[in-house]
Amino acid sequence: MRIKHFLLALLCAACSLVSAQQVALIPQPAQMRVDNGYFVMQKKVALCYPSGESKEVKAVVTRFADEVKKTTGVKVKTCIYRNTPCAKGMGCCKSDTRRIILHTDKALGDEAYKLSVSTEAINITAAQPAGFFYALQTLKQLLPANVMAGVKDANVSEWRIPVIEIDDCPRFGWRGFMLDEGRHFYGKAEIKKVLDVMAAYKMNRFHWHLTEDQGWRIEIKKYPRLTEVGAWRDSKVCAWGDVKPDGIRYGGYYTKADVREIVAYAKERFIEIIPEVDIPGHSQAAVASYPEFLACDPEAKHEVWLWQGVSADVINVSNPGAVQFAKDVIDELTDLFPYQYIHLGGDECPTHKWEHNADCQALLKQLGSNNYRDLQINFYKQLKEHIAAKPADKQRKLIFWNEVLHGNTKSLGQDITIMAWIGADGAAKDAAERGFHTILTPQIPYYINRKQSNLPTEPHSQGYGTETVEAVYNYVPMKNIPTELQSKYLGVQANFWTEWVVSADHMQYLMLPRLAAVAEAGWTPQSLRDYKDFEQRLQGEADYYRLKGVNYGKHVFRTVDTSK
Ligand code: ACM
Repeated sequence: MRIKHFLLALLCAACSLVSAQQVALIPQPAQMRVDNGYFVMQKKVALCYPSGESKEVKAVVTRFADEVKKTTGVKVKTCIYRNTPCAKGMGCCKSDTRRIILHTDKALGDEAYKLSVSTEAINITAAQPAGFFYALQTLKQLLPANVMAGVKDANVSEWRIPVIEIDDCPRFGWRGFMLDEGRHFYGKAEIKKVLDVMAAYKMNRFHWHLTEDQGWRIEIKKYPRLTEVGAWRDSKVCAWGDVKPDGIRYGGYYTKADVREIVAYAKERFIEIIPEVDIPGHSQAAVASYPEFLACDPEAKHEVWLWQGVSADVINVSNPGAVQFAKDVIDELTDLFPYQYIHLGGDECPTHKWEHNADCQALLKQLGSNNYRDLQINFYKQLKEHIAAKPADKQRKLIFWNEVLHGNTKSLGQDITIMAWIGADGAAKDAAERGFHTILTPQIPYYINRKQSNLPTEPHSQGYGTETVEAVYNYVPMKNIPTELQSKYLGVQANFWTEWVVSADHMQYLMLPRLAAVAEAGWTPQSLRDYKDFEQRLQGEADYYRLKGVNYGKHVFRTVDTSK
């Protein structure tokens, strides 16, 4: 009897080994059971969805059908059913056609889905378009890597999906990635690639850091000099120490049409874009564009910054013209980004210039404070009131970096969100205790612009320090946070600062595969997260990156030549 059990256990271990090799999903689903056999896609597959479903579901289904056709040659015929899927007489569901059938269950969460694959059919259940989208993303990930990459692969001739049962939903509603295009500008095509990779990993928030001391990257009709002047500088490198400005005219920006195109592209991938206009610090490009009302010392020379670091040339928050400017910028952002949030920055804002400006001194006195950070809070308070006076469809919630907690935040009300980066765990808890929502973006280890290894071959990267894939993966969000505060934690986000990252190729090298590690922290229950298992699942991603045409750090890929 004992021997029989032992043999059975051995057999099961062997089975699960086969399963582990067959199925490598990232992020790991909340529940998954793999079985023997495959659903083999023949020349034609029917994809049926219920007639009551929205235009959005129809769009999700149609896009999936187009992608599969393009990458595999398999014809996916979409059809709508009324009561019974593939009832007799439904043209596209002939008895010899393999079927993917969508079902609605409004009891599931917005992003949740169930996926059941048998040798005969695939059944998908979700409540909302996002759930159907994620189920189909999982299906794509279960197929050869070229399908997710969106290209043909002549080396693959069979399109099969393992028999599997998945019951999945994300741990957090916010699974984000921030990209700084203030320092370096990559352009639309590169942003679309980032959005594709995010969607592959079921990430849903793209935080677009669009303004910096070194460049303003978004067209604002009311203030054309922001892009005529503020989007350009006289050095491609951001100078630092011995690296001097190189004199190369450098820059770029997104027109309103560009932004609309990116917003639509992200929307198709269930990614919300959070625009960040970092004010009143990190604003030298804006100050250089409109020194007459943004500078604390308008008579001095102001230029788009050529250096890295934290510029002291901040916006004069005591000038009514500066307040009006910020309101006008918010109005134009509101029209461009049809989402809940706008990020107003708030990090690393030196108060030196305010301390030496008579108007700022007078305003601080009037506020009854001796903390210059409160001038910044008062600036935000006016912007918040401006938003509050708008009609319902133009309401936006504000996000700030955690330095804002150093001021008297009481005047900002409770409905702000704190993005915690420096001393992130403590700052997030402080924010949650003050009643604010918070997002975990810990500088260590979620600043994935830092080096991926200490190897001598590692290229120069942005920032000191090294964050290996393992270190990034092993960060535990919301560790030891009391239950009553947990609802304040919206989720996690990787950040990417680009001072030293001139090319998109270098940006991708640093971003990947670490973005996948953060995506899994955002989606997968903590109890299922295990670095060794993740590293094993990651191995197949090298194919995806190669076929997608994106660069990536090679260190953890055992079959990839790391010298390239
Ligand atoms: C930041 O890293 N300055 C938010």
